[in-house]
Amino acid sequence: MSLKDYMNPDVASVVAYQPGKPITDVARELGLDPDTIAKLASNENPLGPSPKAKKAMRAAINDMHIYPDGGALALKDKLSETLDFPTDHFIVGNGSNEILEFIGHCFMHQETSVVASAHAFIVYKLMAKMFGSEFIEVPSIELGHDLKAMAKAIKPTTRVIFVCNPNNPTGTFVSGQQIDSFMKKVPEDVLVVFDEAYAEICTRKMPDTLKYVREGRNVMVLRTFSKAYGLAGLRIGYGIAKPEIIEMIGKPRQPFNANAMAQAAAIAALEDKAFVNKSKRLFKRGIEHVIEFCEESNLEYIKPVANFMLIKVGDGAKCFEELQKRGVITRPMAGYQLPDWIRISFGTDEENEKLIEAFKEVLKCL
Ligand SMILES: Cc1ncc(COP(=O)(O)O)c(C=O)c1O
Repeated sequence: MSLKDYMNPDVASVVAYQPGKPITDVARELGLDPDTIAKLASNENPLGPSPKAKKAMRAAINDMHIYPDGGALALKDKLSETLDFPTDHFIVGNGSNEILEFIGHCFMHQETSVVASAHAFIVYKLMAKMFGSEFIEVPSIELGHDLKAMAKAIKPTTRVIFVCNPNNPTGTFVSGQQIDSFMKKVPEDVLVVFDEAYAEICTRKMPDTLKYVREGRNVMVLRTFSKAYGLAGLRIGYGIAKPEIIEMIGKPRQPFNANAMAQAAAIAALEDKAFVNKSKRLFKRGIEHVIEFCEESNLEYIKPVANFMLIKVGDGAKCFEELQKRGVITRPMAGYQLPDWIRISFGTDEENEKLIEAFKEVLKCL
């Protein structure tokens, strides 16, 4: 027997998450100048971190010998002021991904099941598998959530149901009305997780999911500083739920899970409305520009509502490789059972132009 044979079989069954390729790796592999590469692979904010967050990070440097505030109290105060919930309604994570893992620790095991849509954010499936839960994947409608079918798919063992809105990677969106009728069908002993990583930059009116938290339902809303605020590298996100749920979800949390620099930056970022608006304007231009190109090139796409877009290219793996050779990193979608598609993130105006120029060349050889 080797050590591998003794591995937890649920963990062993997991295919590790494949993040977007870093610029340095691609530059090394293909002999390209890193400064000429556009990374449009991870739905980041091409404007960089919020300027207010940067200022706060500089100011925080001198305190980095001190452990962070384990309870993230100052950040929770700021969130409380911003979202109008008492501070005991928040949990802060090392990215919202970490909160997904806390949910796994709490509610996913051999006797439970988890419901999510096909083509939804893959971490839900990873968590369910890793913790040994049954993963009930509900077929999508036009690559989006079929909320009626998802409600029907709930079994007596189901403890968690994920709604990713807007959905990464497909970019589909569910409306407030759809969510309201869905919520009427979800039993009380199921935790509904609304993953709203793109809420602040969404071009559609976000459904008011926080009202369910106010009503005392078993709902958790997840948000992140990685997208609208440009702080993906710091790893900080948060969840909003009633205190009873926050207490449960907080049990597996390590004492200093959210670092002090990230907490300082996040507090300042929440003040930076101008930066979020600037980001939204940039993404809107990106959406218009790339849609125009897709229309001209007869490429099928899902109309974007945030900072990324799914495009049907035929051979997604080849398209990804060819774009990469031309210094544009995108995301192939085979891991999401969408081998004909790639996902691009919107970049700066120059990066979007580079993407389109590279795409024009690549289309000739696909
Ligand atoms: C839908 C969704 N949820 C969660 C995350 C994780 O974000 P974070 O950087 O806060 O861990 C992402 C990141 O891409 C996402 O797209």
